[in-house]
Amino acid sequence: MVSTLFPSAFFFFFFFFFIFVCSPVFLFFCNASAALLESLPTLSFEEGYTQLFGGGNLILLGDGKRVRISLDERTGAGFASQDLYLHGFFSASIKLPADYAAGVVVAFYMSNGDVFPKTHDELDFEFLGNIRGREWRVQTNVYGNGSTAVGREERYELWFDPTEDFHRYSILWNHERITFYIDDIPIRETVRSAAMAGCFPSKPMSLYSTIWDGSGWATSGGRYKVNYRYAPYVAEFQDLVIHGCAVNPMDHSSACERPDAAIYGSSTMSPEQRAQMDGFRRKHMTYYYCYDRDRYPTPPAECKMDQIETRQYYGADGVRYGGHRRRRRGGRHNRSSVAQADAAL
Ligand SMILES: *[C@@H]1O[C@H](CO)[C@@H](O)[C@H](O)[C@H]1NC(C)=O
Ligand SMILES: *[C@@H]1O[C@H](CO)[C@@H](O)[C@H](O)[C@H]1NC(C)=O
Repeated sequence: MVSTLFPSAFFFFFFFFFIFVCSPVFLFFCNASAALLESLPTLSFEEGYTQLFGGGNLILLGDGKRVRISLDERTGAGFASQDLYLHGFFSASIKLPADYAAGVVVAFYMSNGDVFPKTHDELDFEFLGNIRGREWRVQTNVYGNGSTAVGREERYELWFDPTEDFHRYSILWNHERITFYIDDIPIRETVRSAAMAGCFPSKPMSLYSTIWDGSGWATSGGRYKVNYRYAPYVAEFQDLVIHGCAVNPMDHSSACERPDAAIYGSSTMSPEQRAQMDGFRRKHMTYYYCYDRDRYPTPPAECKMDQIETRQYYGADGVRYGGHRRRRRGGRHNRSSVAQADAAL
């Protein structure tokens, strides 16, 4: 009896093992990055952050787990993580200002510009407001070791209205790769390579969230400016996740010996996630620096120029054909816009 039951029991054990272990709750075991989004604890503002600027334009709501920052004619506002991190998973759910928001920039990013002014690293989500009736755009960027002369902007349109509800924006950064996510969908991956050399961020960074006036460039290259008749412009942040290796601020050694550090130490994307990312990029990417031949006659080394099938949809300026051409150039600011904002503080 036992001997005949055993194989099927064995089979069922593994069958259910995989069903349950690969369910969203336990996805952790199957796919580290997706799991992180499900399982990581959220922080209150006080636990992880400190106000950077903006006085009363930063207020806390919901037991200090929700942060509201606003821009008016006096000032924008921003906050930063208390610690510097070398690698980790960083996430926030963000709701952007509704209505007329041309010139307004909301940024969720990592940087170490204040610690390493000449060789800074940076990972950006930048949200660029728009005139009424036109949607917000999102831009990501990667700088490493002071590589601000080479912008690696990518721009996307969103498949939802980011002013209507909270959506989650995340950055996974480890020694090998950087992945940006929107609502758990990977949208961009940067892999460390010999070609990229020092341009792959490799020094500890802080996490920042800011709202500020980007009238000079944010909307149609500066044509539409912030109009303070519509102020205050309000952005809200919640589900704050910082799951990284905090470093010693004096010598920048990493104190990261937690057993779960491996979570982001070796992330890989499942084939399903990769397909999702490719699908997102095919549909929603409106500017790609690798295709911008006007700016980079020789594309930066990490660009794989064999992507002929998608490249044909982009002009020589890296902007996708069809409906987006008026909005170009905004991404051309030659230095990181958030770094500029930092400098202006
Ligand atoms: C970063 O830049 C500095 C100064 O330009 C250089 O000395 C250093 O070797 C670079 N680091 C890497 C990892 O490329
Ligand atoms: C970057 O822009 C500034 C003005 O915004 C300009 O003075 C500078 O020459 C530009 N640098 C490059 C490398 O294009």
